[in-house]
Order: sequence, then structure tokens, then C-alpha cells
Amino acid sequence: MEKIITLIEKELIPAFTKAGYDAKYAKVTVSNRPDLCEFQCNGAMAAAKAYKKAPIMIANDVIAGVQESSMFEMAEAVNPGFINLKISGTYLAEYMNQMHGDENLSVEKAAVPKKIIIDYGGANVAKPLHVGHLRSAIIGESLKRMGRFMGHEVTGDVHLGDWGLQMGLIITELRKRQPELPYFNDNYTGEYPQEAPFTISDLEEIYPFASKRSKEDDAYKEEALEATYQLQQGKPGYRALWQHIMSVSKTDLKKNYGRLNVEFDLWKGESDAQPYIPDMVRRMKDEGYAHEDQGALVVDVKEESDTKEIPPCLIVKSDGASLYATTDLATIVERMKLYQPDEILYVTDKRQEMHFIQVFRCSKKTGLVKEDTKLQWLGFGTMNGKDGKPFKTRDGGVMRLENLIGDIEEEMYHKIMDNHEIDPKEARQTAKIVGLSAIKYGDLSNQASKDYVFDIDRFTSFEGNTGPYILYTIVRIKSILSKYRAAGKDPEEGKMQSAANASEKALMLELSRFNAVMENAFDEAAPHKICSYIYDLANVFNRFYHETKILSEEDAQQQASWTALLLLTQKVLEICIDVLGFEAPERM
Ligand code: ARG
Repeated sequence: MEKIITLIEKELIPAFTKAGYDAKYAKVTVSNRPDLCEFQCNGAMAAAKAYKKAPIMIANDVIAGVQESSMFEMAEAVNPGFINLKISGTYLAEYMNQMHGDENLSVEKAAVPKKIIIDYGGANVAKPLHVGHLRSAIIGESLKRMGRFMGHEVTGDVHLGDWGLQMGLIITELRKRQPELPYFNDNYTGEYPQEAPFTISDLEEIYPFASKRSKEDDAYKEEALEATYQLQQGKPGYRALWQHIMSVSKTDLKKNYGRLNVEFDLWKGESDAQPYIPDMVRRMKDEGYAHEDQGALVVDVKEESDTKEIPPCLIVKSDGASLYATTDLATIVERMKLYQPDEILYVTDKRQEMHFIQVFRCSKKTGLVKEDTKLQWLGFGTMNGKDGKPFKTRDGGVMRLENLIGDIEEEMYHKIMDNHEIDPKEARQTAKIVGLSAIKYGDLSNQASKDYVFDIDRFTSFEGNTGPYILYTIVRIKSILSKYRAAGKDPEEGKMQSAANASEKALMLELSRFNAVMENAFDEAAPHKICSYIYDLANVFNRFYHETKILSEEDAQQQASWTALLLLTQKVLEICIDVLGFEAPERM
């Protein structure tokens, strides 16, 4: 459906042109003075210069041209030349009805769907998921859902860190603890066991142990580096162990991401890109893009317009090892080959900015992607504790994701139990759902690039700009509608009529912005815009709710109109929280 702003502009255009002014001045915005009007056009101000006329004269000319229009309840020219507009209640109600009848509740799907890969999550295998990975998962998941809602073909790839030194460390430590395992016997020719010789809890203990030891013991570190090298060269026993580490870790990761409502289509990782490296490097050399610099192989990526120093992209280290950039470049080669995306979007900590500048420039320059393939990076800020420092556990350790989720659920559970009488089992279930909204909304409501303070008290509050407040609003609507349905009536059938009061009109106006908000939030990769929209929407809804006696209304048509409006509000809120990646309970 066309956006309401566009429809208003279309109504104004003939008024501009008939009076002899260019159509381009018929630009409409939502009013920044809601006390005076709902929409405004400042085109007369802009046109004044071109036509050497007082803006108020132009505004008056335009107003004269829309006097007959049934779209406006008010259209007036105000000094020094503003055009203030109020939309007619009937027109707005009609827009609401059309919106309600529309498959996507007024949002227009992309005319040309794009193939988009979103690279997010980025967990490192064998290392426990910690809060640092939380933001990537939450933001990336939301962008994926937004893209799909807009009609794009979006694939989410977790892009695991599964090829680094951590693998060598684990292998080395296992070798010390269980040297008798067949993986360490070079003469072993049989099949390796199906079952892993460790559990996820073992891995969680082994990795930090080995990592610590390697920092204190050089010989140990050498061994781990050697094991990493042999793994990467394909030593069979180590490959088999690596498979075990992968499968045990993936099972655990899936469980954890699952608790966050985060789901990946692809479980690929750095290891998958390795086969593409040799050819890619050779080509970069042969075609003259890469050159040697102090024994290393680099591609220059600086550009004349740079205002800061962009160092060359390091492709191969002087000892022959490949790097983070090498793997990311090869992953681009792999993705272009297997999926031919129009766009790849990466969601990582903002400290990786330089890395992505280099990788993107290098890909374009060396032709790994097409001229028009869009490579986009969204860098997010740090999640801090109340002390303004990166979020930690009470004793200063790195907070595990599981524990963080557990803490929030516990807090939510107590709030729900305190609120009213409820079966403890149901309260537990509800606490899970509401707790997730607290975490996700708490994160997503901030502009991604900014740091934010993770404040459990605030995030779990039922009041203010929080996930639980949004859910509370949805639950409130559900409860009214279920009473309405219990009386044998169907809110789906009601037609909205012209708003009966100001708060109802405000609610309709807010709903009419939905298509524009969703489109813009996706274009700008900005889930926080959806959060701020639903916060406004929930507020105007609650104002309307407090001022309107819906269930006791005697005029059946009026009641049907209001319940239809409630249903539409519920649907819009639910789509929004769905793209944010959480859901509402039945009661809370
Ligand atoms: N594993 C990386 C980390 O923990 C994140 C990976 C992000 N994606 C990428 N293609 N580089 O920092």
C-alpha cells in the first residue's frame, strides 16, 4: 500500500501545479507541532525564492486548490508560509481498513527481491558463548527477519570461528591427558570412534586450562601451534578429533542460540573457506594485485580520498600462515561461488571496523565480487555493566550467556509472581518469554553502534521503554479481544469508522506510519527504529485504552470498530516484535 505521506503529497501536487508551482515542492512530513496539525508541507517556504514571492502567498494559492478535497479535515496556510494539514477521520479510517485487509498490513514488499547473506553470531567453537556474542546474534537475527519481511531472500550464516589456535590447544591438552587415544597414534589405520572422547563440560574446562597454560609455558604453546598446523594440513587423527570438537560444540551452540530465538540457515565456519585460499592467493599474485612487503604478501587498499591511514590488507604472513582477512576474503569467494548474493552484511563488534574496510576494498579491487555486489558492515558497541565497564559477573569474570539468561528469567519470575496470583509453573514459562523480550529489547532499542548499559532492573520493568511493557500492552489487547470473542463476536469482521476522539485518531495515525517505519528501519539496518515505533504505538494505544470503555460500549457498530482497531494494533505490534526476534505470552 502507498504510504499515507505519499498519498497526501499526491493530493497536494495538482494544487501546486495548477497554481503554477513545481510539483517538487509538494513535500509532506509528519508534523513536528502535533498541537497544531498532523502533517505539514513546507514547500511554500522553499518555493518562495524560486518564484520571488512571499511564501504565505504561495501557501494560500495551494490551500485554495485543496479546499474541495475530502482527504483533509483541515488545510490552512500559516505565517510565514507553512501549510498545516489534518487528515479527515473518514479518510484515515478507510486507510486503516485497507491496511487491515492487506496481506502485509500495508508494507510493500521489495519490488526486486535481493539475495542477502547475513554473517552474524560468529561464535568461536569450543569457547563458551559469552555476552560479547550476544549482540551480534540479537542484532543479526533481527536484520534477517526484517529482510525477510520486506520480501528479500535472506540467508543467515553463523560463520563459526573453527579454525584457530583454540583447536590446537584442545588437541594438545587432550594428548597430555589421554595419550592412549587412537587419534594420537600415528600408526593407527582403523576407523576412529563415533563417540567423542569428551563432553561439552570437558571442553569448557579444557580450553581455558590449555589457553592459560600456553601463556605461561612456551614449549606448550609451541606444541599447540604445531598441532594447529598439523590439523590444518589434514593429519587424519587430528581431523577426526576436530570433527568431534565441532559436533559437540555445535550441539551446545544450537541449544544456546535456540534459547535466544536465534536460528541460522548455514552453520559454516572459517574452516569451510580454507580450500579457496590457495587459488585466490595465486590469482591475486598473478594478476598483480598482491605484492611482497617484508616477506609478507599484501594488497594495497588505500584510496586518495582517505582521511585516515588505511594499511595494506595482509593476505599471507611471512611464515606462510593465513590470517583473519585471508579467511574472510576466501569466504567471500566461497559465497559468491555457492550462493551469488547481491549483498553480504556482517554484524560484528565495532572494533573490527578496519578489518572490514580492508577486506571490502580488497574484494572489490581484486574482483572477488561483482561491481554492484554490496558489502555492508554493521559494527556494534559494547554492552557495559552499571559501572560503565564491559559487562562482567559479580566476581569480575566473563559472564556466560546461559547465566545471564538465567538471571533475567529469575528476576522476571519474581516480578510475575509478585504481580498477581498465578500458577508457578505458568509463571516460569511466562518468565522465559518475557525475559527474552527484556534482553532483546534492552539491546535493540539502542542504536547498534552505541555502547549501552545492561541494566537488569530497568530492562525487566513493566513500565517505560522496555520489552515487558510492549508485551504487557499486547497481552492487554489480547485479553480484551478474548472477552469480546467470548461474547460470540469476531473482531476480524469489524470495520473501523472515523475516530470518536483524539486519542483514537492518534492511534490510527501512529498505525498509518507502520509501512514507512518498517521500510526505513530495514534500509538503514536499524532495529532501534522499530523499537521506538512500537514504544510510541504502545503509548498511544494505552492512552486510548484508558479513555475508552470498549467492552461496555452499547453501540455495536462502534464497539466493532474499536475491536477491529485493537486487532490491527495487536497485529502490527506482533509483526514488530517478531522481526525483533521475540514473542508475547497469552497472559502475564
Ligand atoms: N569469530 C569472530 C569473533 O569472535 C567473529 C566473526 C565475524 N564474521 C566474520 N566474517 N569475520 O570475533
